[in-house]
Amino acid sequence: MDPARVPTHVAIIMDGNGRWALSRGLPRLAGHRAGVENLRRIITACVEFGVKHFTIYAFSTENWGRPREEVDGLMFILNEVLDRELEELNRQGVQLRHIGRLEGLLPSIQKKVRQAIERTRANDRLILNVAFNYGGRDEIVHAIRQMLADGLQPDAVDADLVSRYLFTAGQPDPDLIIRTAGELRVSNFLLWQGAYAEYYAADVYWPDFDKEQFRLALEHFGRRERRFGLVSAQLKPKAVPDAASGN
Ligand code: FPP
Repeated sequence: MDPARVPTHVAIIMDGNGRWALSRGLPRLAGHRAGVENLRRIITACVEFGVKHFTIYAFSTENWGRPREEVDGLMFILNEVLDRELEELNRQGVQLRHIGRLEGLLPSIQKKVRQAIERTRANDRLILNVAFNYGGRDEIVHAIRQMLADGLQPDAVDADLVSRYLFTAGQPDPDLIIRTAGELRVSNFLLWQGAYAEYYAADVYWPDFDKEQFRLALEHFGRRERRFGLVSAQLKPKAVPDAASGN
């Protein structure tokens, strides 16, 4: 893979855990567990391929509406992942961050997340944003409230400023947003930040989205032409050197 064409920031909607489990006659939570196993593999692949920011959609503000047993199970899994995986992530040079409403989680989990963020603060091989209790609309509402609370005047507000009030402040926007399980929906994920992201739909459930699938997605991204609202001719480097300038 051409390192120059590896996306700096990849985000993933890890869809299909439930269907993966049900297709095997297993409870849905077994699918989420398999999803965590896969996450470990894809984080390692990010480090290997040179991705610098990786954002995962683990629990949305809408997921609270799922059956109680599944919500509790996902909280339990987050707790367990923090206990079990933190040292390995730290060893790999991963810096953990959280995006979303931390204050909506159990105090014991909040504390663990904060400790994990602190423990990995100095790492810089990969920034891993865990979107947990995250919603894109909620993030924008939160940003607007914060701007009003800071007493900002209307003229002071522009796109850069809004970006700085989001949970992803200071990080580049995602270049590539992958969704597994073949769905073609944004589902309230990185609404602002995804303005010019390339989208990629993988036709496998998240637990089956392996390193090769990930490589395919990155290669596909590498072949896309990103125009950011311009036309092709404006983007291509000049084929013939400019004789007049001698360059
Ligand atoms: C979508 O599949 C997946 C989720 C809502 C949760 C993703 C969570 C994990 C992979 C584990 C938790 C991760 C961390 C970091 C603690 P779905 O359940 O909607 O699948 P379905 O559409 O087939 O039902």
